[in-house]
Amino acid sequence: MAAAAKKRSRGASSPVYLLLVFSLFSGGHSFSRQLVVELNPGSPFTPPGGELLHVRAVGDNDTLHFLFCSQGAPTLLLVHTNTSSSTVKVNWSQFVSRNHSGSLKVEPESSVLHSTAVVFSRLLEYDDVNDTAEPTSDLLPPYELQDFSWSRLRLSGPTALLCGAAAAFANGSLCLQLSVFESAGRGQSWPRLLHTANSSQVGVWIDGVLPRANRSRFLLELQAVGGAYPLSRVEVHRSIDDEFTPSIFKVSQWVSAENGSSDVLGFVQWKPVAYRQPAPTLEDATPCRHSDPRPQSGEAAAAASGLIRAFYGKTEAFGLNVSFGLAGEPFYDSTKFLSWTLLVGSGSPPMDSFSPLVLSMMAVGLGTPLILLLVGGVYVCVRKRAAASTATYEPIN
Ligand SMILES: *[C@@H]1O[C@H](CO)[C@@H](O)[C@H](O)[C@H]1NC(C)=O
Ligand SMILES: *[C@@H]1O[C@H](CO)[C@@H](O)[C@H](O)[C@H]1NC(C)=O
Ligand SMILES: *[C@@H]1O[C@H](CO)[C@@H](O)[C@H](O)[C@H]1NC(C)=O
Ligand SMILES: *[C@@H]1O[C@H](CO)[C@@H](O)[C@H](O)[C@H]1NC(C)=O
Ligand SMILES: *[C@@H]1O[C@H](CO)[C@@H](O)[C@H](O)[C@H]1NC(C)=O
Ligand SMILES: *[C@@H]1O[C@H](CO)[C@@H](O)[C@H](O)[C@H]1NC(C)=O
Ligand SMILES: *[C@@H]1O[C@H](CO)[C@@H](O)[C@H](O)[C@H]1NC(C)=O
Ligand SMILES: *[C@@H]1O[C@H](CO)[C@@H](O)[C@H](O)[C@H]1NC(C)=O
Ligand SMILES: *[C@@H]1O[C@H](CO)[C@@H](O)[C@H](O)[C@H]1NC(C)=O
Ligand SMILES: *[C@@H]1O[C@H](CO)[C@@H](O)[C@H](O)[C@H]1NC(C)=O
Repeated sequence: MAAAAKKRSRGASSPVYLLLVFSLFSGGHSFSRQLVVELNPGSPFTPPGGELLHVRAVGDNDTLHFLFCSQGAPTLLLVHTNTSSSTVKVNWSQFVSRNHSGSLKVEPESSVLHSTAVVFSRLLEYDDVNDTAEPTSDLLPPYELQDFSWSRLRLSGPTALLCGAAAAFANGSLCLQLSVFESAGRGQSWPRLLHTANSSQVGVWIDGVLPRANRSRFLLELQAVGGAYPLSRVEVHRSIDDEFTPSIFKVSQWVSAENGSSDVLGFVQWKPVAYRQPAPTLEDATPCRHSDPRPQSGEAAAAASGLIRAFYGKTEAFGLNVSFGLAGEPFYDSTKFLSWTLLVGSGSPPMDSFSPLVLSMMAVGLGTPLILLLVGGVYVCVRKRAAASTATYEPIN
């Protein structure tokens, strides 16, 4: 059976090779967006209780509005419109009072195609006394991110850094870094996620947080809020083993399950890996797992996040937990650092293809036999022809 499969795959090698070459040459298309960064758009003052970053990513006929806010629990809202001239309007007095739905609008409202929001709601810690990595009974009181004191947003181009802490953190902090992109590319450091102009990347890390137990492990709770089609299911795909995220063979994507259609409107994507050092090496990688998305109270999400309250009326939410570390892995205490990276975007999630290194290795591996086969074929043909032509001369005698 295995031999048969092998034979079949060998038989298929030349079409695969041609396909690879084709994708190598056709892969160069570049879709890009023009980015305009605004902090606290239209506000005459630095808003009390948290700032609002707006990145307009303008395409040919559409706009993606990335809104990142620290009024309450940190929230990223992504609104896709079908015009390149849509704008964001905030009634600041209502926005900061955090009890008016409609105080942030994307105008014209008829241009809104789809919206997705992710709320970073809670950090959970548990004492893994038996090293099972199962957050069961020994859960410590959760950290509500809406109660943190958040720094002002530190901007550098289309990248924003937000750090915050709870009192129990001692000198530690939890930070989020948002990056929006003009065009497709890859993150600079591991897990080096592939992004497009339709997605943003969020790095989340906890650094120097004082653990409340000797064998502490952490979980991060996320809530997704959406318009008609909230993110309600997580798909886990195999990812190609390449040099960008060594040892990780999977990619998870949390997507909107639109009825009947396979079109994904918005997504959150990540690789199931976190790192225990700011400059990761392979030894510092630690696997992570996610729980199944569960329906949550949209009202609770709106109460936790000023941006959700301001943009959405009545809404639905789904939540999940990402837990860091497996049984037998070092505890948080070992480095007092943990970082995880995710992508939030509109449309279909980007798919990893073969990296240039793997491609060239495959090209050599598959191409050499192919070339030999061709050369051999040509040689045989030439020989046959030569034989045939000499044969035609033979009967003369
Ligand atoms: C989108 O923009 C292109 C030019 O950038 C234009 O040719 C095309 O007609 C536009 N499509 C729509 C639906 O407006
Ligand atoms: C903002 O909201 C307040 C209170 O609801 C209202 O009085 C004011 O006119 C609004 N401002 C704008 C610019 O719409
Ligand atoms: C918002 O809060 C203010 C004061 O906290 C209150 O007077 C007002 O009625 C509230 N509005 C709504 C819509 O809940
Ligand atoms: C998109 O654009 C068209 C034409 O400008 C408009 O009529 C329509 O309402 C817009 N919105 C959606 C959701 O298609
Ligand atoms: C840890 O293991 C001990 C002994 O097997 C057991 O009694 C205890 O309940 C376990 N604790 C947890 C939190 O699972
Ligand atoms: C926090 O930082 C201060 C000043 O840098 C230092 O004196 C103190 O020992 C630190 N506390 C902890 C728990 O690390
Ligand atoms: C990004 O979105 C635009 C507009 O919806 C679409 O035309 C384009 O193909 C998308 N690009 C990628 C890489 O998904
Ligand atoms: C950690 O373990 C030591 C002994 O092994 C114990 O004295 C200490 O109380 C523990 N600390 C915490 C936070 O549980
Ligand atoms: C979902 O699909 C069912 C049957 O296929 C249909 O009756 C229902 O209206 C659909 N709901 C939405 C929101 O499209
Ligand atoms: C995350 O885990 C905690 C602790 O197990 C649980 O209370 C909470 O409901 C979980 N959240 C979600 C969205 O599943």
